[in-house]
Amino acid sequence: MKKICFAFVLFLSTTVIFAQTKTTVYSPNSNVQLNFWLSESGAPNYEVLYKKRTVLFPSSMGFELKQTQNNTALPALKDNLSVTGSTQKNVDSKWTPVWGDVKVIKDNYNQLTVNLSQKGTDAIVFNIIFKVFDDGVGFRYEFPQQKNLHHFIVTDEKTEFHLTGDHTAFWIPGDYDSNEFSPNVTSLSEVNAEDPKYAANIFAHQFIDPSTVQTPLMLKSKDGLYINIHEAALVNYPAMNLRINKADFTLSSVLVPDALGNKAYLETPAKTPWRTILVSDKATDILASHTILNLNDPSVIKDPSWIKPTKFVGVWWEMHVGKASWDYSSTQDMNTATNIREAKPNGHHGATTANVKKYIDFASKNGLDAVLVEGWNTGWEDWFGQYKENVFDFVTPYPDFDVKELQRYAASKKVKIIMHHETSGSVTNYERQMDTAYRFMKKFGYDAVKTGYVGHIIPRGEHHDGQWMVNHYVRVAQKTADYKIMLDAHEPVRPTGLCRTYPNWLACEAARGMEFNAWSEGNKPQHDVILPFTRFMGGPMDYTPGIFQLDLSYWNKDKKETIHTTLAKQLALYVTICSPLQMAADLPEIYEKKMDAFQFFKDVAVDWDDSKYLEAEPGDYITVARKAKGKDSWFIGAITDENGRTATADLGFLDAGKKYTATIYADADDANYQTNAAAYKISKQVVDSKTVLKLKLAPGGGCAVSIMSVK
Ligand code: NOJ
Ligand code: CA
Repeated sequence: MKKICFAFVLFLSTTVIFAQTKTTVYSPNSNVQLNFWLSESGAPNYEVLYKKRTVLFPSSMGFELKQTQNNTALPALKDNLSVTGSTQKNVDSKWTPVWGDVKVIKDNYNQLTVNLSQKGTDAIVFNIIFKVFDDGVGFRYEFPQQKNLHHFIVTDEKTEFHLTGDHTAFWIPGDYDSNEFSPNVTSLSEVNAEDPKYAANIFAHQFIDPSTVQTPLMLKSKDGLYINIHEAALVNYPAMNLRINKADFTLSSVLVPDALGNKAYLETPAKTPWRTILVSDKATDILASHTILNLNDPSVIKDPSWIKPTKFVGVWWEMHVGKASWDYSSTQDMNTATNIREAKPNGHHGATTANVKKYIDFASKNGLDAVLVEGWNTGWEDWFGQYKENVFDFVTPYPDFDVKELQRYAASKKVKIIMHHETSGSVTNYERQMDTAYRFMKKFGYDAVKTGYVGHIIPRGEHHDGQWMVNHYVRVAQKTADYKIMLDAHEPVRPTGLCRTYPNWLACEAARGMEFNAWSEGNKPQHDVILPFTRFMGGPMDYTPGIFQLDLSYWNKDKKETIHTTLAKQLALYVTICSPLQMAADLPEIYEKKMDAFQFFKDVAVDWDDSKYLEAEPGDYITVARKAKGKDSWFIGAITDENGRTATADLGFLDAGKKYTATIYADADDANYQTNAAAYKISKQVVDSKTVLKLKLAPGGGCAVSIMSVK
C-alpha cells in the first residue's frame, strides 16, 4: 500500500502531555492529504491539505441519535470514542459511463476505513470511510448491523468543514424546499440568506436561517484555492445544508427535517451519503472532476441500449411567455376541469393536436429527436398552490389533444413525444398513479418523462429535500428504469451524481432555469458562469437554453422581461452546459427566421468522447471544448458574465496534421446583452492543431464554435 503513512503527532497542553495517533492518507499523486485522529476526549477529527496548504483546519464529525421505538436519546456519537481498527486500500480502475462528458472515467483513490466504538457498556459501533482522490476527499459514515443499534433516528449530524478564512463564496440560501434562487457572490462573512437582496421570493420555499447556504458550495480562498463542498449518492437520507459560523468560518451540516422534525430514519446496516471536498489551484480542475460520480454506485441498468441522449423542442416556452396556456378552459375551477368535455375552450390552449404537429414537423425537418408537450392532461385549471391532493391523473387528455393520432403522426416522422407529469407537489397522488401513468406512456409510444414538483409537498409537512422525498425521487428513477423510461425531474433535490447509478435519469432541473427569464427579474449574466461550479457538480441540468427572441415584449407589448445574454451566448450554453438532454427552448416560428444560427443546435452533440476545460473562473468566464461521441468533430463554448472579454481556445487537442473547418457563431462587434443582444455574426475558417482561436465575447456574451474534419 503506497503513500499511506501513519504519523505520530505530539500534542502539548499546559497541564498534561499526551499523545494522539494521526492517520494520514495521501491521494495517489500526493497532492491531497487527509489526516484523521481522535481528540483527547475521544472526538473524531479530520483535516485536509492540498499541496501542503491547509484546506480544512481540524473539523469534527459525529451524530446525535435516538431510539425509534421510544423516542429516547442515545449517547451522542461525537466523543468518548475509541478506534478499534482501521484498514486501507488503493483503488485504480476505470469505468464507461452510458453518456457523459468523457468516454471513460478514471477512478483512482486511497481509502481509509476507521472502525469506531463508544466506550462503556452497550457500545454503539460505526465506521468512517475516507476516499482520497487527486482532486479531493469523500467520506461517509457506516453503521454496521449490531446488537445495540437496529432501528434509529438521526436527530442531528455533526459534520464540520472548518475553512481557513473568509473565502469568496458562490452560494444560494439554505432552504428545505427550493434551489431556484439566483446564485450570489460574497465573502462568507457577508452571507445573509434571508436578505431579499440575496434571496428572491420563490413559491413554496422554506429558508433555514440567515447564515445557512446550500451545497454544492463553491469557494475561492484569498490565496487562490478553489474548494467545492457537496455530497454524493444522496439516498435514504435528507439533503445537507451548511451553516456558517462567521467567527471562525466553520461550516456545519444542517439536515433537512421531516414533518416531525426528525432528520433520518435508519436501520442497520446503514450508510450516509458521502460528504465531498474538492480542491485545486485551478478552477478548470473543479469543472473536470469526476469524484462525485466516482463516489456513486455503478449503473443498475444491465442493458442501457434504450437510453438515448436527446435534443428536443417543446410546447413549453409559449406558455411561459404568455402566448398559450397549459389549461384548456382557464376557469380555475376543478369541477369544470373534471367535466372538461362540456367546458368552453379558452382559445389559446398550447397542447392541441394541431400545434403539437407543428413542433413535430419542425423537429423532423431539423433532425431533432423529440417534442416535449406540457398541458396535455386535465387538471391545469386548478393545479397551483392549494395544497390539493388529487389534481392530475396523468392519463386523461384534454379534448383537443388526440393521443392516438399524435402517436401515429410522431412515429411517421420518426420523432418522439416527451411526456409531462406535473405532480403539483402532491406526491402521494403521484405514487398512487405512477404504474398506471407509465403503462399509459408505453402504450402510446412515450419513452421519456419530465416530472415536476411545483408547490408544497403532500404528505403535508414533508419537504422537497427531506428523506421521504429523496426516497421518492430515487423510487421514480428505479421505476422509470423498470419501464425503460428516461427521466428529467424538475424541482427535485439537488443532484448528487446518482445519474451514474440510474443513467436513465438524464437530467434534473434543481436550480433556477431559463423559465425565470420569462416571468421574473430573470437570471443575471453571471448565472451561467456560476452554475457549472455549483449545481452542475451533481449532474446534468435541463436548463433549456436557445432563446433567440431575447426581448420578450415581442410576445406582448406590456411584457418588460428580457433575456440577460446575447444570442451567441445562448448557443455557447449548449457546450458549457454538459447534459445529455438539451432543449431548443424557443418557438419554431422564431428559429425559422434565423436558421443560420440554429444550424449550431442541429450540429451540436449531446454526448461526448472528451472534454477540455480550457479556461475558467467562477462567476467570470468559462471556455470548454468537447469532442462529439464517436465522431471527429469538436464543439467549443465560451461564455462571460456582464463584462466583455476575449476567450482563448488553443486547438492543440485536434489530431496533428489534420485540417478542420471551424464555424464560429460570435457576438457581432457591437453586441451587448443590454442594448444589442441579438446581434451575431457567423464566419468559417480552416483550423488545425496549431491554431489558437481568439474569440471576442460581448458583455453578457458568448461564442459557439463547431469544428468538423475536412473530408
Ligand atoms: C416548472 C418547471 O420548471 C417548468 O419547466 C414547467 O413548465 C412548469 N413547472 C409547469 O409544470
Ligand atoms: Ca422549475
